[in-house]
Amino acid sequence: MIRNCRIRNFRILTEKEIQFDPNLTVISGPNGSGKTSILEAIYFAGCGRSFRTRNVQQLIMFSKLWFRVEIDTDNGHLDARYRLPEKQKEIFLNEEREKIAAISTQFPFFILNQKSLDVVRAGRRNTYLFFNKVLSRLFPAYIQALSGYRTALNNKRLLLKKMVRNDIIQAWNRVLEEHRMKLTKQRKWLTSVLNKLLPEGVEIEYLPSQPDKSLDSFLLVEQEKQIVLAGSHLDRYRFLRQGKDVREFSSSGQQKKVFFDVITTVGHLFHQQRGIKPVLLLDDFDSEFDKTNMVRNLDLVMGQFQVVLTTTDHQRFSRFQHQLVQLKSEERRNN
Ligand SMILES: Nc1ncnc2c1ncn2[C@@H]1O[C@H](COP(=O)(O)OP(=O)(O)OP(=O)(O)O)[C@@H](O)[C@H]1O
Ligand SMILES: [Mg+2]
Repeated sequence: MIRNCRIRNFRILTEKEIQFDPNLTVISGPNGSGKTSILEAIYFAGCGRSFRTRNVQQLIMFSKLWFRVEIDTDNGHLDARYRLPEKQKEIFLNEEREKIAAISTQFPFFILNQKSLDVVRAGRRNTYLFFNKVLSRLFPAYIQALSGYRTALNNKRLLLKKMVRNDIIQAWNRVLEEHRMKLTKQRKWLTSVLNKLLPEGVEIEYLPSQPDKSLDSFLLVEQEKQIVLAGSHLDRYRFLRQGKDVREFSSSGQQKKVFFDVITTVGHLFHQQRGIKPVLLLDDFDSEFDKTNMVRNLDLVMGQFQVVLTTTDHQRFSRFQHQLVQLKSEERRNN
């Protein structure tokens, strides 16, 4: 659980201190007042990345050379720093420098914004990355298998372009097979436990790439085409509602509901497996919902997560007990 945070020189936020409610914190303010920036700063402290941009430099307040985000949590003090000209990103846990992978497992932060709905709406890659994120935040061993797999895959790709001997590529296939076995096992496990927790009629289907064939059996064609044709990076997932593919057949509102069901069960799983309540950052949560749906979905996720949400109208959340953070418009700030 996060208790309070201090954000300095992060985008529009010169210096901002925030107290969090254990269940719901509402960040309210007009457009451009810094609501998304607060969620972005929290997210950065948990995984060393932005959910908006790959360019960390952009996150530093104009004309400044560094930013810093400190968060007090139940599990200790998180302190994320970035500075120029070194372009150095550092995260400290209780004053000790920590690897980012270790932090994101220990402090699972999830972001949910308009773009996250691509997980159920857009191409298969979004879904694949989403489940990678869930598994990485659940098990450090998954991150290791994934990064071992990626390194071996990059090597194999390079070698295919260089047209080296078969046995050299086969040696990399052995490494890939080893990681592939672990990744498949964990992905199968995740989808089967989530399916047990999901409401009736909603299901996740995991479709491993070429599960019955060895990677070596693709070698001849791969050498000819100089691309990799099978392996864990080509695994797919599908969301089903009443047995039908959600991406193809569900309405936009139904897709959103399925996504909230999935997110809620993910939160439940963290509780079950790790005994922790992860943090869910909801950006512009109410923008697409009618009031009834908003209340229902918020009730759903609040049972499993500590929720921090942004809105332009905090009155909409008056029926929920919450901590309110009110931001001023840019003009009023400057006066
Ligand atoms: N590096 C930066 N330094 C200073 N200000 C910045 C920087 N990057 C963006 N901004 C300003 O930060 C503000 C954007 O903040 P943010 O996206 O957090 O707003 P918001 O409250 O979420 O708005 P909306 O309701 O439109 O989503 C804008 O006013 C933008 O001009
Ligand atoms: Mg915003």
